[in-house]
Amino acid sequence: MTQKFYVKGGTPLKGEVEIGGAKNSVLKLMAAAVLVKGATKIYNVPDLTDVEVMLSVIEGLGAKTVYDKKEKSIVIDSTDLTSITAKYELVSKMRASFIILGALMSRCREAIVALPGGCAIGERRVDFHIKGLEALGAKIKIENGYVHAKASKLVGTDIYLDVPSVGATENLMLAATLATGSTRIQNAAQEPEIVDLANFLNAIGADINGAGTSEIVINGVTADKLHPIEYTTIPDRIEAGTYMSAIIATRGKGIIKNVFPAHLTFFTDKLLKMGANIKLLEPNVLEVSCKNRLNSINFVTQPYPGFPTDLQSMAMALLSTANGVGIITESLYENRFMQVPELRRMGADIHQDRNHAIIKGVKKLTGAGVAASDLRAGASLVVAALMAEGNSVIENLHHIDRGYENFESKLRLLGGKIERRDDEIMTPDNLTEGTHNESYI
Ligand code: EPU
Repeated sequence: MTQKFYVKGGTPLKGEVEIGGAKNSVLKLMAAAVLVKGATKIYNVPDLTDVEVMLSVIEGLGAKTVYDKKEKSIVIDSTDLTSITAKYELVSKMRASFIILGALMSRCREAIVALPGGCAIGERRVDFHIKGLEALGAKIKIENGYVHAKASKLVGTDIYLDVPSVGATENLMLAATLATGSTRIQNAAQEPEIVDLANFLNAIGADINGAGTSEIVINGVTADKLHPIEYTTIPDRIEAGTYMSAIIATRGKGIIKNVFPAHLTFFTDKLLKMGANIKLLEPNVLEVSCKNRLNSINFVTQPYPGFPTDLQSMAMALLSTANGVGIITESLYENRFMQVPELRRMGADIHQDRNHAIIKGVKKLTGAGVAASDLRAGASLVVAALMAEGNSVIENLHHIDRGYENFESKLRLLGGKIERRDDEIMTPDNLTEGTHNESYI
C-alpha cells in the first residue's frame, strides 16, 4: 500500500528541531570505509532509505556491517572484500552509489560498477568521473551498462574538471588516496561534504590538502598507512534549510539545533533579504522566525558556496506567496522545476521558461492533492502544504524518505499538522476537521 502525507496547513511552526547527519556526506564516508582493513565506525548516521541502499552496495562487496539505528551509527569492516561489483539493481536506486567506483579502484585497482542512468532532475552524466580515472591510469570499458575499470597502478596527475562536480571530485579523491604520487584536482567542488570526506580520509591516514577550495591536492599513500577510525558525520545543511523554510513559510518561530550555520551562509542571506529573522543563539543553534509576508527576491543556483540547488524548491515555495515577483534560475540541472505544476495546483502563479522560473507571489496557497517527483521537490510540497489554507495530500513519499529522517515526526514536534497514512481512499475534498482519528485532519 502506498503511503501519503496528510497535511492541514496554516499553523505556525513553533519549537525545536534537531538536524541529523548529512545524507550527501555519510554515503561517501561509507564508501570511503571500503579503503580500510578493519572496522570503521561512523556516527550521526541518518535513518534514510539511501543509507540502506549504500549498506547493500558495501555488503555486496563482502564487507561486514552493523547498523545501530538507535545509536545512529554504522560499523563497516572491510578487512576481506570478496567482490568488485556494484549491481545495477542498487546503483539504479541511488546514483550516489557510483562513488564506490573510486573506492574500489583505490583498494582493488579494479571495479565493475553499473552506469547510473538519467534521473528525474536531469541527465546527470558521469563523464568527468570516467575521464579523471583514465587520467590516473585506469583503462575503462563500458559494456552491458557497466563501467569496467582496471589499472595495474594509478599514478597521480593534474586533473581539471570542466564543472566543479561533487561526485567527480569525491570519486577522484578516493581513487587518488592510494595512487602513486600527487594528484591535483583543479576546479574541484567546494561543498562541505567534500571537506567532510577529506577529513575522514585524512583521519584514516590519507594525505589530502585544500578540500573546501577549488584546488585539492592528494598525495598518494600506501595501503599500510591506512587504519580504521571512529568518525562523526557533519549535520545536514539541506535538512536544516528545509526546516528553516517550513518555519518561515508558516510565519512561525523555531530553534534549529545541530546546524553548522557557516554551511548555509548564502541561503541565510537570501532568507534575511526576504524579511525572515535569523539569529545565532549558540555556535550550532539558530533561531528562525517570520512575522510578516516575505518580499520576493531573485537568485541563481550555483555550486557551493552559491545558492544550493537542493534548496531551490524550498525557496520557490516561499516565493509563491511573497510580495512581488521573484525569478529563479536553475543552473545545475536541466529539469529541477518538477515542483512547479504541483505548486500551481495549490494556487501558485509560476511561469517557467527553460531553466528560469518567474514566480508572482499570490496572497495564499490552498491545499490540494499533489505528488512528489523527486526528493527536494517533494520536501517543497510539504513546506507549501504546511503554509497553505486547508488540507493537502502528498503522494510518492518514497522520494522524500530518501533524504529526510522522521520528517513528519520532526514537523509534528514543531506543531505541524502532518500525518503519514496508508489509506488510499481519502482525497483533500473529504478531509475535514474531526472526520478522522487525528483531530486536526
Ligand atoms: N555533471 C556532468 N558530468 C559529470 C558529473 C556531473 O555533466 O561527470 C553535471 C551533472 O549532470 C549536473 C552538474 O554537473 O548537472 C552537477 O553535478 P554534481 O556531480 O556536482 O552532482 P552530484 O555529485 O551528482 C551531488 C548531490 C546532489 C546535489 C549536487 C550538487 C549527492 C549524493 N548528491 O550530486 O544532491 O544536488 O551534488 O550540489 O551528494 C539531493 O540531495 O537532492 C541531490 C540531488
